[in-house]
This record gives sequence, C-alpha cells and structure tokens, in this order.
Amino acid sequence: MNRWDPHQYQRFGRERARPFFDLVGRIPDDRQVHTAADLGCGPGTLTQTLCMRWPEATVYGVDNSPHMLEKAGQLAAHPRLHFIQADLAAWQPEHRLDCIVSNAALQWVPDHARVLPHLLSLLAPRGVLAVQMPRNFDQPAHRLLYELARQDPWAGLLNSKGNRDNNTISEGHHDSLFWEERPFVETPDWYAQTVRRAGFGVEVWETIYHHLLDGRDAVLEWMKGTALRPVLSRLPEQQHGAFLAAYGERLATTYPPGPHGTPFPFRRLFFIAQRA
Ligand SMILES: C[S@@+](CC[C@H](N)C(=O)[O-])C[C@H]1O[C@@H](n2cnc3c(N)ncnc32)[C@H](O)[C@@H]1O
Repeated sequence: MNRWDPHQYQRFGRERARPFFDLVGRIPDDRQVHTAADLGCGPGTLTQTLCMRWPEATVYGVDNSPHMLEKAGQLAAHPRLHFIQADLAAWQPEHRLDCIVSNAALQWVPDHARVLPHLLSLLAPRGVLAVQMPRNFDQPAHRLLYELARQDPWAGLLNSKGNRDNNTISEGHHDSLFWEERPFVETPDWYAQTVRRAGFGVEVWETIYHHLLDGRDAVLEWMKGTALRPVLSRLPEQQHGAFLAAYGERLATTYPPGPHGTPFPFRRLFFIAQRA
C-alpha cells in the first residue's frame, strides 16, 4: 500500500481505461506518428495499445515507479515498445516526439507552469500533446480524506518527517510535507491559456463519468489505488487499519451502494495541444 500497487490500481481497470481511450480517440488522424511516449504509463497495459493505433511508431512508456514498470515488463514483448524508468518532468527523449500521451499522471507532478512548456518543447513539428487528469478533488471522497488527515492523531503522524518509507522516496517524492504531495490540477482555462501562450493550438474539455463500482467498500478500494497512497506511505503500518476504518465509515455514509453498484461520479479534464 505504501507505493504504487499495480494490482490495486487495476481493480477498477475498466473504469480507469475509458478516459484513456476517450483521450486517444480525439488525437487527430491527419499526421504520421513515428515516435510516441506515454508519460506516467503505469502498468503499461494502455501504453501497448498505442502500438496498434500507430503501427509505424516506436512507443516509449515512461514511469518513475519500479513496481509499475515491473508489471509492465510482464506484458508480451513488443519490438516497438520500450519502458523507461524516469521522472516524466525531467526525461529527455533522444529525438523530438510526434505524440505525447499522459493519462491520469500529471496531477502527481508539481509545477505545471514549468512542466507543461517543457513537455510542449519535446514535440516535433506537427506534434501533439494529449493529457487527461482527474479534476474531482473538491468531491467528498477527497474532502473526507483530507478532513480526516487534519485530525489528531493523523495530522501529527502525516507531517512527521520520520514517517517516510524508502519506497515512496524512490518513486520520486522528496522530503516534503504531506500536504505538498497531494495531487493538484489547475483549471481548464489555465491549461487553455498556458498552451496558447506557448504558441500551440488547444482543445480543452471535461467529462463526468458516472461510474457504478462493483464490490464491497468500492470507493475505499478505488481510493486505495491512488489518493490514499501518500497517506498510507506516511502513517506507521500499525495505524493503517484504524485510518482505513475511520475513512471507510465516512465513505460508506456518503457513497451508499445501490442495487447495481456504488454510484461514483468522477470529473476528468482533458486537453489536446498541437502545433498549428
Ligand atoms: C494513476 S497512475 C496512471 C497510470 C496509467 N497512465 C494509466 O492510465 O493506467 C499514475 C502513474 O503516474 C506515475 N507517476 C507519478 N509521478 C510521476 C513522475 N514524476 N514521473 C514518472 N511517472 C510518474 C506513477 O508511478 C503511476 O504509475
């Protein structure tokens, strides 16, 4: 639990994959793609589909989690698919890229005012950057998590620098406070303006997915795959049960299961930037 866990993340694989295909489906077909990258590629399952979308392309999956990349390494080898362990904000491809895709990853990377122009600078002439990020941090699942994290004893434990585990540090976090490590996404207008300012055309949109999640404690299980990760990485292991019980109880009241699954609305932000 205290690092990216591909198994937990993929428990809701169908729901998490849909936005990737909605994003990639909007990338224009009118250009040849010889090199593409999937930044924050996770377990690589979605990355490999890019080899089919662009049958001529060499595809790089970049991620800084060794656990996610270990899972990606178990996929059937494809001669045009390469996985690389690197911080996506610092990775420099050998040649400029025709297409960069990033699905559900950039919210974990700070300083979009610096990172976004950098990613755009990696594009070849007529290159495309396609990004999807969740934008539901004002929703109860997140609010309840951070309200609880502000309460004692959790508040003290979460911000103690002693409570870091080596796995988390190796996956790209530094000696920052818990609150600085939360996922963060700017407004749709901010992305539109920033991409335009860099001299690119841009299309920005949002979609709310109305998921019906299967299984018990479904929202808690969903959150374990993502937003709970930095929380549990900081809490001593013997405190995990108590924290999850308190959070799970709040979630169960706010997200009661329906007859056909637990309703879980989820807003996501998309944008496609392309050189004119
Ligand atoms: C929510 S998962 C998304 C995985 C995949 N893109 C998908 O849609 O299934 C987020 C991924 O971003 C990766 N990630 C987060 N920060 C990163 C960084 N600075 N550099 C590279 N990868 C990063 C994590 O390791 C994780 O695999």
